[in-house]
Amino acid sequence: MNTEQKHIPVLLDAVINALGDINGKTIIDCTFGAGGYSRAFLERGAHVIAFDRDPNVVSDAKNLNDKYGDRFTFIPKTFSHVADIDMTVDAIVFDLGISSMQIDVPERGFSFRADAPLDMRMSQDGITASEFIAQKSVPELANVLRMYGDVKKANILARAIKENAPKTTFELRDLIHNPKDVAPVFQALRIAVNDEMGELEQALDAVPELLKPGGKCICVTFHSIEDRIVKNTFRTWTSAPGDPRIPTIERAPFDIIKTALPTDEELKNNSRARSAHMRGAIKRTENEMESV
Ligand SMILES: C[S@@+](CC[C@H](N)C(=O)[O-])C[C@H]1O[C@@H](n2cnc3c(N)ncnc32)[C@H](O)[C@@H]1O
Repeated sequence: MNTEQKHIPVLLDAVINALGDINGKTIIDCTFGAGGYSRAFLERGAHVIAFDRDPNVVSDAKNLNDKYGDRFTFIPKTFSHVADIDMTVDAIVFDLGISSMQIDVPERGFSFRADAPLDMRMSQDGITASEFIAQKSVPELANVLRMYGDVKKANILARAIKENAPKTTFELRDLIHNPKDVAPVFQALRIAVNDEMGELEQALDAVPELLKPGGKCICVTFHSIEDRIVKNTFRTWTSAPGDPRIPTIERAPFDIIKTALPTDEELKNNSRARSAHMRGAIKRTENEMESV
């Protein structure tokens, strides 16, 4: 499948702006997707190492390889494997969540708008959403619905889901009586099945070591918990633990750089940008660390 036309990159201008001049720099794109970000980085002269867990994106990655040769490397793994990279880089970028290709292909089971097996696996391995439901207890399911979907009456719904053990997207959809809960329930299950928050926390843990001084970490999030993880992680990087008498900001290894939300123009052209939020942090150079 040629995915090139289908996914409109979100907040790409803001990300490019935050990265500045990337000619000759090395960037890790943790979420290749349709390659919108990677392509933009390559066009501006960067070397790119890209991750994606979805086997469907491999052919798009191959196209970039053909065009850019060894300036582009694709790693078909979850981005928590970023910790295995044994070099330092100039930037690490995350554009989280799912792609249009994933949500728009009914057989992937992410969408409640088409009937399909209740799958939801980005990697297409591991347990499906219906197997996840079978393995979890009612309180565990309720917790997932509450935490990642902010679903009210999560216990009642979790019990109904557990008892009916839906195997298809429509079977699950039909168990949800409040239409406002349908999208949040699907989102919550998707986040849990793919361990999206665990992946993000693990990858962010590896970032400070991987960045060169002056290197940047840019994250585009689509969910309040995702955004909170990024915000809190950046907060730990920008405040140094230790002697409480020294203003923490003065010994912090990172500074916060621009945050960005989609413009009205972007929202008009791309409904998927709706809940997007960009945050960035920059690792201080040795000079900056010494001068404070
Ligand atoms: C929003 S899309 C990225 C779109 C991309 N920036 C573009 O412009 O085309 C998110 C992509 O990240 C991938 N992804 C999500 N979580 C991942 C993880 N933990 N490891 C690797 N890839 C992941 C998904 O499979 C999806 O293809």
